[in-house]
Amino acid sequence: MSPAVPTNPDPGQPHTADLVVFGGTGDLSMRKLIPALYHTDRDGRLSPETRVIAMSRGGLTDADFRGKVDAEVRDQVPIDDPELWRRFLGRLHHVSVDVGGEDRSGWKALAELLAGHEDRDRVYYLASPPRTFGPFCRELQEAGLVTPRSRVVLEKPLGHDLVSAQGINDEVGAIFDERQIFRIDHYLGKETVQNLLVLRFANAFLEPIWNSLWIDHVQITAAETVGTPGRRGYYDHAGALRDMVQNHLLQLLTLTAMEPPARNDRESIRDEKVKVLQALRPITGGEVDRFTVRGQYVAADGMPGYLDEPASTPTTEASRRVETFTAIRAEIKNWRWAGVPFYLRTGKRMPYRRSEIVVQFKDVPHSIFPGGSPNRLVLRLQPEDGIELHIMAKEPGAGEISLKPVPMALSFGKTFTTRVPEAYERLLTDVLAGNPTLFMRRDEVEAAWRWIDPILAAWKADPALPEPYPAGSTGPAAAHELLGRSGRTWHDGEDA
Ligand code: BG6
Repeated sequence: MSPAVPTNPDPGQPHTADLVVFGGTGDLSMRKLIPALYHTDRDGRLSPETRVIAMSRGGLTDADFRGKVDAEVRDQVPIDDPELWRRFLGRLHHVSVDVGGEDRSGWKALAELLAGHEDRDRVYYLASPPRTFGPFCRELQEAGLVTPRSRVVLEKPLGHDLVSAQGINDEVGAIFDERQIFRIDHYLGKETVQNLLVLRFANAFLEPIWNSLWIDHVQITAAETVGTPGRRGYYDHAGALRDMVQNHLLQLLTLTAMEPPARNDRESIRDEKVKVLQALRPITGGEVDRFTVRGQYVAADGMPGYLDEPASTPTTEASRRVETFTAIRAEIKNWRWAGVPFYLRTGKRMPYRRSEIVVQFKDVPHSIFPGGSPNRLVLRLQPEDGIELHIMAKEPGAGEISLKPVPMALSFGKTFTTRVPEAYERLLTDVLAGNPTLFMRRDEVEAAWRWIDPILAAWKADPALPEPYPAGSTGPAAAHELLGRSGRTWHDGEDA
């Protein structure tokens, strides 16, 4: 096992690195990673010698790959300085690799490209299916390419249940030290998510009311208007629970619910997050019906249903059973949160694209005005980053006092003139700097699966299919009943 990553000798300066991207010509790379690296370069945060080496089966030369990026990425990024774009393209290389095959020439070519640069940081970014994580790491080790300065980045999904996640963690952990492993969840790179930590721990006023005495419940929603065209092969076996809840939504839940960490460092924050996951009350067997909802969108308003989406794989029983929407009532068994439900909800083909955390406060203990409603804090990640505190105000006018809920709103885009970086920019910068704070630790990922697994098992054992919901709607009726049973409603209104 390699020693831990050395720290940057000069933290003010970007390290020189060789960033090797497996799946380097794939969708994630072309839509997110390469544009993020270009922005990082444009902001002066890539050292001049840093190289990006895409690995794929594509049989491309460096020139082919640069041409591909020029053709496909140029329109996604602002090119105000053609010389900078030309220099950025010059950083790009391509190595063809025969994945799992007899032909060793790709690994040899990679070794030759990296030779003589052992003093650089090496980042192996596995933007490939999780079953390749272990084999790729072994190949890298056999080719002698794992140096003390190496790191490996694992894209989600990390397995499809606890056992498979443990298997991947064991395989990767046999070659890389835990401190060299960066498990990415791009939600952690979003500005509002980091701002949640600042809001909670750099301001004094919230902490005394951040508990079950003052908070009625929390809603965490990630709603998307997109469906799953072309993704059936993946999505049939993932579903909303594995694709969004196990990672993104549970990460938002941990950051909302965690105790104040002692320090802002790599382990203190992750230690507190793990404790939240460990305190989640398991939802098992017969309870699953009461605490969870599954839905699948069907054709409506000119939009196709899940089963009608264009797909390269045939429709199977898995396609019919997979959930494209889920809502869950989670509970955290600790002193701070006893009795406060955390409602999680995510779905494809919903009427709006919105990711947000809504903290719903309790009503005033005794109301002297008619018509008030409880305060609500909304932390919005999408479509625009922002924070809103809904307070009660008096409507102007003489006569009877009339109350109206009004938002005190902070839009990051309007308040700060600097560009809000994409999540991947922040995360790639952290990987290059060797800072794993915003990445998931092994115990965190496994604790999340430990909570998800019984829900998956109960759904699997249930002969019922997910409840249909019309494309473009807010999900199946059962999702509304999940809150309605306790007199609550989802935050879907006009001001939502
Ligand atoms: C990905 C999921 O992790 O997150 C996708 O695999 C989903 O299904 C995407 O669409 C949502 O990300 P964002 O940043 O657009 O909310």
